[in-house]
Parts: sequence; structure tokens; C-alpha cells
Amino acid sequence: MLKPPFDAAELTVGQLAARSGVAVTALHFYEDKGLIHSRRTAGNQRRYPRETLRRVAFIRVAHRVGIPLRMVAEALAELPEGRTPTRADWSRLSAGWRAELDVRIDRLTRLRDDLSDCIGCGCLSVDRCVLSNPDDRLGDEGAGPRRLLGERLPGESRHGPA
Ligand code: FES
Repeated sequence: MLKPPFDAAELTVGQLAARSGVAVTALHFYEDKGLIHSRRTAGNQRRYPRETLRRVAFIRVAHRVGIPLRMVAEALAELPEGRTPTRADWSRLSAGWRAELDVRIDRLTRLRDDLSDCIGCGCLSVDRCVLSNPDDRLGDEGAGPRRLLGERLPGESRHGPA
């Protein structure tokens, strides 16, 4: 029932879900985000152009490698007249996303290594735990709220009002 005719120019949402392997709710979400588009029939049912299958495949693959939907939407919006990504588009976009993935992999590797120090500890100390207090640039100045301690009112010494 959901299998579209081989030469169908348009697909129902059920057919698109069956062919793409993406849940109907996810397809509705993609449409809400402007990633795919449909027209409505007289009976208010969605009909997707057949090339939406390739668009959904593009979205799935990009999302699977960790590209946020926001970036996928930006990439799709750059294509002329909302065109479905071609092989050349995918090649160009995936090359650009590789740098983004490298940054994320570096960040996750650092987090994993930091987490190794926490395993079996549980202190969550702001002094000792790099995950509890990442990028602690003021910690070397001493304990306490360094920014608040460093700010003095006019006429006030470091030890209180003059
Ligand atoms: S929980 Fe103790 S160092 Fe992170």
C-alpha cells in the first residue's frame, strides 16, 4: 500500500517514510524546519515531489555524522531555487563539514580524557575537577569569586570601605 508506483512524480508522507526509512513525525519536523516541502491536495493531504527522497537522504546522512539540522538547513537554503542537492553539492558540502567534525572530535577527545580523571573520583570539586570547572582561568588567583573580589567600589580598599 505504501509503495509508490515506480514512476510516481509525488509521494504521500507514508510513502516517503517507507522509502526513506524516516518516521512520519520526523518528516513533519523536517518540513516544519523548512528542510523539505510539500504541496497540499484538495483533501489537505501532503504530497512531496519524488526528489524529496534524495533531500531526506542528504538530511539523514548529514545528521548521522553529527551535523546540526541548523547547518543542514543553511546548506539546503544556499542551493539555487531550493534545488535538491546534487552529487557535486554533497561533495562540496561534506568537505566543508569535515573541518567542523574535526573540531568536534578534538573537543570530545579532550572531554573523554578529562573524564578519565573523574572515573572513580566523584568529587566534582571546582578546585580539582576540570569537568566541573572547565577553563578555570581565574583559579590561579585564589579561592572564591575572583571577579567579585577584584571589583572594588570607589574609595574602597581591598579590605573594605575606607
Ligand atoms: S570528579 Fe573528581 S576530578 Fe572530576
